[in-house]
Amino acid sequence: MGFELEHVVPWGRTLQEYIAMFALTEQDLQKKLLGCADGPASFNCELTRQEGGKICSIDPLYQFDSEQIAQRIEETYGKVMQQLEQNQADYVWRDIPSVLILGEVRLAAMTMFLQDYSQGKLEGRYINGELPYLPFTTQQFELALCSHFLFLYSAHFSYEFHLQAIMEMLRVAQEVRIFPLLDLAGNSSPYISPLLSALPPKYHAEIIPVAYEFQRGGNQMLQICLDTSQRS
Ligand SMILES: C[S@@+](CC[C@H](N)C(=O)[O-])C[C@H]1O[C@@H](n2cnc3c(N)ncnc32)[C@H](O)[C@@H]1O
Repeated sequence: MGFELEHVVPWGRTLQEYIAMFALTEQDLQKKLLGCADGPASFNCELTRQEGGKICSIDPLYQFDSEQIAQRIEETYGKVMQQLEQNQADYVWRDIPSVLILGEVRLAAMTMFLQDYSQGKLEGRYINGELPYLPFTTQQFELALCSHFLFLYSAHFSYEFHLQAIMEMLRVAQEVRIFPLLDLAGNSSPYISPLLSALPPKYHAEIIPVAYEFQRGGNQMLQICLDTSQRS
C-alpha cells in the first residue's frame, strides 16, 4: 500500500526542539544535515534562515503540495488536540506548559513550514522519499537526524525495517541521531537492544540523555557514528 494523505496526521516541531532533542551544538548546526521524516516541522525553514544552515529534509509527505498538506492539517488538528487533552498525564508539561500552548507552537511551526515549502522544494531542501531507501550518494551528509519516526512507530514498522533504515542513514551520513527511543505507548522500543547488537563493529553507538522531555521518560537519543579508530 502506498503512502496516503488520509492516513497522515501532520504534526511538526521547531528548530529549538530539534536542538534540544538531538543536543545540537553551534558546530552541528553548520554541518551538512539530513532530516529524515521531517514532515511539517519548521526545522528546515528556520535553519535555512540561519547563516550557514545547510539542510535537506526527506519525507513521503512531500509528494503532496502545500494546499493538500494544509488541508490535512486543518482536518486533523482538532482531533489531535482532543487526544492530547485526554492523555495529558502521559506528557511532561515543563517547557510547553499546556495543551493549548502546545497546539499554538505546533500550528506556528507547521505554518512556517507551509510558507517555506514551495520555495524549499525548488531549492531541493524538501525531497519526496521514504526510508528505508534514501536517494543520496554515500556519505553525502555529515549528520542525519530522525525525529519522531524510527522507534516511535515500533508497533507499525518491523525490526528489519528499522535496521535497514538505520544502515541506510549510516550509508549517506557520517553520523546518525535518532529521538525518541520510546514507542507511541511510552515504552522503550523493543528494537533498541537487538539493533545495538546487530550494528557492525566499525560503528560506535551511544544512548545519550538530552534536555528535551515531552513523552514521559523520553529524554534520550541514540547517536551512531564510525568508531574513531576506524576513521581515515
Ligand atoms: C510524527 S511525524 C514527525 C515529524 C517531524 N520529524 C517532527 O518531529 O516534528 C512522522 C513523519 O514520518 C513520516 N514518514 C512516514 N513514513 C516514512 C518513511 N517510510 N520514511 C520517512 N518518513 C516517513 C511522516 O510523513 C511524518 O511526516
